[in-house]
Amino acid sequence: MITIALSKGRIFEETTPLLAAAGIVPQDDPETSRKLILDTNHADVRLIIVRASDVPTYVQYGAADLGIAGKDVLHEHGGDGLYQPLDLQIAKCRMMVAVPQGFDYEGAVKQGARLRVATKYLQTAREHFAQKGVHVDLIKLYGSMELAPLVGLADAIVDLVSSGGTLKANNLVAVEEIMQISSRLVINQAALKLKHARIQPLLDTFASCLKV
Ligand code: PRP
Repeated sequence: MITIALSKGRIFEETTPLLAAAGIVPQDDPETSRKLILDTNHADVRLIIVRASDVPTYVQYGAADLGIAGKDVLHEHGGDGLYQPLDLQIAKCRMMVAVPQGFDYEGAVKQGARLRVATKYLQTAREHFAQKGVHVDLIKLYGSMELAPLVGLADAIVDLVSSGGTLKANNLVAVEEIMQISSRLVINQAALKLKHARIQPLLDTFASCLKV
């Protein structure tokens, strides 16, 4: 049995064509089904639906053989025990620092001000600001980061930006790019050895889809 960990939403949608290229078709749609284990048209391949940030954990412990996770999530997790052979070039976005319109971010940084920054990505944010020599107090949030500067919880946020629509709707502007994000295939290292005959063809198919 091969178990593939995926999250609902953009990653699932953009992974479906890659799975189809490998002849794998899920038998349920996670948007409409409440099932967390989805059978496929192959008796020996199943998908599990987990929170995006939990994908590396399922693969690290071998509860899933493969997974697909964003660079944002993998960077936070650290990638221990995971083989990351392919950038699938899906679910692309950018991790940015954003502030309320009119907030002089560059000025505050130049003056050495201590900034309060709200984010889900503590590790990545800590590294970024340390590299820049910016003093920050990080506040961990689990979602709706854009709200934090609007109600005085933080001066700035670190969050993912895709269309920019959420920032715009909340009068925020992106002031710095931390990294470009796309989703990668991750594989449990033991599974890659033990189930090589089943996993390698999948890897080859995904890789060939990227070249087209
Ligand atoms: C993400 C991200 C932003 C938004 C950016 O949130 O955290 O809030 O999408 O997209 P945009 O630039 O196209 O507006 P998501 O909806 O995935 O929910 P989350 O807060 O649970 O991560």
